[in-house]
Amino acid sequence: MAIAFSRTPDGDIISDHHLIAEVLREALPYIDYLKGKILVIKLGGSTLEHQQVVLQDIIWLSALGARPVLVHGGGPYINEWLKRLQIPTRFENGLRVTDAQTLEVVRMVLLGQVNQGLVLMASQMGGKAIGLCGTDAGLVRARIADERLGFVGEVEEVDPTLVQVLVEQGYIPIIAPLGQGPDGTCLNINADVVAAHLAGALNAEKLIFLSNVVGICRPDGSLISELTEEEALRLIDEGVIQGGMIPKVAACLDALRSVPRVHIVDGREPHVLLRELFTDQGAGTMIVRGTRQPS
Ligand code: ARG
Repeated sequence: MAIAFSRTPDGDIISDHHLIAEVLREALPYIDYLKGKILVIKLGGSTLEHQQVVLQDIIWLSALGARPVLVHGGGPYINEWLKRLQIPTRFENGLRVTDAQTLEVVRMVLLGQVNQGLVLMASQMGGKAIGLCGTDAGLVRARIADERLGFVGEVEEVDPTLVQVLVEQGYIPIIAPLGQGPDGTCLNINADVVAAHLAGALNAEKLIFLSNVVGICRPDGSLISELTEEEALRLIDEGVIQGGMIPKVAACLDALRSVPRVHIVDGREPHVLLRELFTDQGAGTMIVRGTRQPS
């Protein structure tokens, strides 16, 4: 076997064995800490193209003893199908106006295409994945968010029992963001919100958003690696966090009431989950509860 060599920043030559030892030394405490802990991971619709690498990392996490639970979106796929079927799309405050016909497409795409696609791929890679919908066994109960939006729900209550039973047995639940509305109707719910509520109900250790941004950035584009709840609120006030980032950060801040750490990482980056979870520095933005202790 060929032995590869690398150089340290000082120019010293080190062999791969040293590199591996270093990676392990950094990772082992985190591997230990995540054992038995529930991690709710939200896969944004825009990261689904990269689902193979993401699922690979998730299967590793599960093999290492963590308990990952996935919630996925599917926006781009829903848009594509609505376009193909010539059904007009309308958004209000970032929420899709969902009439009966649109709801039919949303269900078809989320369940038939995205959820089953993820489950099939994870299973092919050897993961014990199982597909769920928020309407299964009272998992997500919802109410109509606003009559004008049609079949769009806001979360009323999450019953985590089914998911708890599954993760205890080593399954990886993959959940489509639909909820059971009044009179047994099905409602379309924002996946970030479902993930945040689920993380709370499951007492998750972490909520991790995989999307198509590197994390929260400063105005000059540089990444903010870590910030507290209070700092995040200030950045919203100061206009540093703006546009589409605001609802996501708001969902993170909401989630911090019940989850100690929320992470935002770029799902297009290879093995971003492993780098965020098993290194000191991480790969995206981590938001922690409370205010920073003066040093
Ligand atoms: N791996 C550690 C954890 O998961 C630290 C992550 C730090 N991440 C960051 N973006 N600063 O808790």
